[in-house]
Amino acid sequence: MSAEARRRAYLKALDIDIYTLRGQDGTIEEPCGESVPDVAPPDWESLRKAVAACTRCSLHENRTQTVFGVGNREADWMIIGEAPGQEEDRQGEPFVGRAGKLLDEMLRAAGLSREKVFIANILKCRPPNNRDPSVDEASSCRSYLNRQIELVSPKIILAVGRIAAQHLLDTDAPVGRMRGRKHFLESGQLPVIVTYHPAYLLRSPTQKRKAWQDLVLARQVMEGTA
Ligand code: URA
Repeated sequence: MSAEARRRAYLKALDIDIYTLRGQDGTIEEPCGESVPDVAPPDWESLRKAVAACTRCSLHENRTQTVFGVGNREADWMIIGEAPGQEEDRQGEPFVGRAGKLLDEMLRAAGLSREKVFIANILKCRPPNNRDPSVDEASSCRSYLNRQIELVSPKIILAVGRIAAQHLLDTDAPVGRMRGRKHFLESGQLPVIVTYHPAYLLRSPTQKRKAWQDLVLARQVMEGTA
């Protein structure tokens, strides 16, 4: 990505309008580095404010609050889920309901904890009746998540559930086909391991064994042995 494209992406992430210069004859002049002030990429605080004030999609109309993400901002592991549910919308924190308790157990089994990892979702607002996020909603929210990934700079992403994995990896493959191997984010370097969503595991506890195997694989990727 060119420096100009990156700058524009950051401006978009902050919802800052991009003005283009018009010459005297009405032709559009491309902004040059000197006439357009450079804008630093959003830091944690400005990103948090931008998310809290976001009206990019209609989900803002019914939210109690945005659910930004939580955990260690310098974590090696980033856990990415789907979207806030009712309890997350009420408390402003991801994975605090029943599924969240199971996620905590899964993390503990892998020698991790909520404080050691950073947890975020594809969407920062709750979809009504916990329906799946639409493609438009996910793409409206994507630059926030991308910037969180840049800021945390994790060594691995654990995508929990179909929605997270499909949006992150830009595929419509089912979880069963994605799990069990290493993927990479589009940018190429960052490994992504896919596992089942804890809400699914609550409904299908016999699959917990596979989720455990996914965590073992993730650990091996972290240790450089897979
Ligand atoms: N499910 C998710 O995917 N994310 C949450 O934050 C809560 C439930």
